[in-house]
Amino acid sequence: MKRIRLIVTGKQGQVVTAMLERAPDDIEVAALGRPKLDLSDPHSITRAFDDEVADVVVNAAAYTAVDKAETEEDLATRINGDGAGLVAAVARGLGAPVIHLSTDYVFDGSLDRPYREEDPTNPIGAYGRSKLAGEYAVADANPRYAILRTAWVYSPFGANFVKTMLRLGETRSEVRVVGDQHGAPTSAIDIADTVFEVARQIVAEPSPRKFGVFHMTGADEATWAEFAEAVFEEATQYGRAPVKVTPIATTEYPTPARRPANSRLDGARLARDYGITLPPWRQSLRPVVARLLTDPAN
Ligand SMILES: NC(=O)c1ccc[n+]([C@@H]2O[C@H](COP(=O)([O-])OP(=O)(O)OC[C@H]3O[C@@H](n4cnc5c(N)ncnc54)[C@H](OP(=O)(O)O)[C@@H]3O)[C@@H](O)[C@H]2O)c1
Repeated sequence: MKRIRLIVTGKQGQVVTAMLERAPDDIEVAALGRPKLDLSDPHSITRAFDDEVADVVVNAAAYTAVDKAETEEDLATRINGDGAGLVAAVARGLGAPVIHLSTDYVFDGSLDRPYREEDPTNPIGAYGRSKLAGEYAVADANPRYAILRTAWVYSPFGANFVKTMLRLGETRSEVRVVGDQHGAPTSAIDIADTVFEVARQIVAEPSPRKFGVFHMTGADEATWAEFAEAVFEEATQYGRAPVKVTPIATTEYPTPARRPANSRLDGARLARDYGITLPPWRQSLRPVVARLLTDPAN
């Protein structure tokens, strides 16, 4: 059996860490990140891939500081827009397709149903605009692309909502959490497994329907408040005291960047063209909370 070699951008991000940890026997994962590869610096991108060999390149690195992007849009666009396009171009030069991670923030969230891939984009913030620029740049640079839009990513690694809630729960018996934004929590571990399966199928059967934009989030939906409730409920299994969640309106929790009220993504295309449906988010949350509360490394 020939192993598939994936080069993934980033070193310590949630998705790249999950990919490094979960690489199955048929897939080799090599991570290229800072300082060797800096997506804000075009020369470092081309140099970092010198002498590299890859069956598939995965662009998982990004400027992900949604609020900070409002005052650093140029940098965010250099990394998420131009940098992503250059990674896709370099992949093309290596003869490899590119899998690129994108986001629900390319939409404005005004639709009253889950977003499909062909729905009009209309980002309402700088981060979303920079990621949308990346989608166009990737598609322009490499005809063999799979853009996987995801949302509400959490994991045992890096910074994320689940870790924040568990930290708050250590000292508080009640938290106020936004209850009028709707989406689907998505485990970076499920994303890693999906990326591996997409890579396998792109290599084995590179037919036109394997390329394009795909929505990839945990099955079922929630509000941030419901997500927080689930985290605290799981945590009680590990001796944590219950925490009451009070849902609040987005307007009561002002942030520099606006967030879409509807972040739900319809995963039918990924199911149809790849046979992949992510597990229900609640099911995937369980092992992450277990690990965060039982593994001394956390
Ligand atoms: N987190 C979410 O809720 C969410 C939601 C929707 C979509 N996404 C998308 O999913 C993908 C993965 O997100 P994530 O949660 O794994 O992100 P993350 O945990 O914030 O990690 C970001 C990664 O990008 C790397 N990076 C940032 N700036 C860089 C630069 N200039 N050059 C090279 N690498 C750089 C970081 O490098 P270091 O390793 O050096 O720190 C890190 O590895 C991203 O494309 C993101 O836009 C995320």
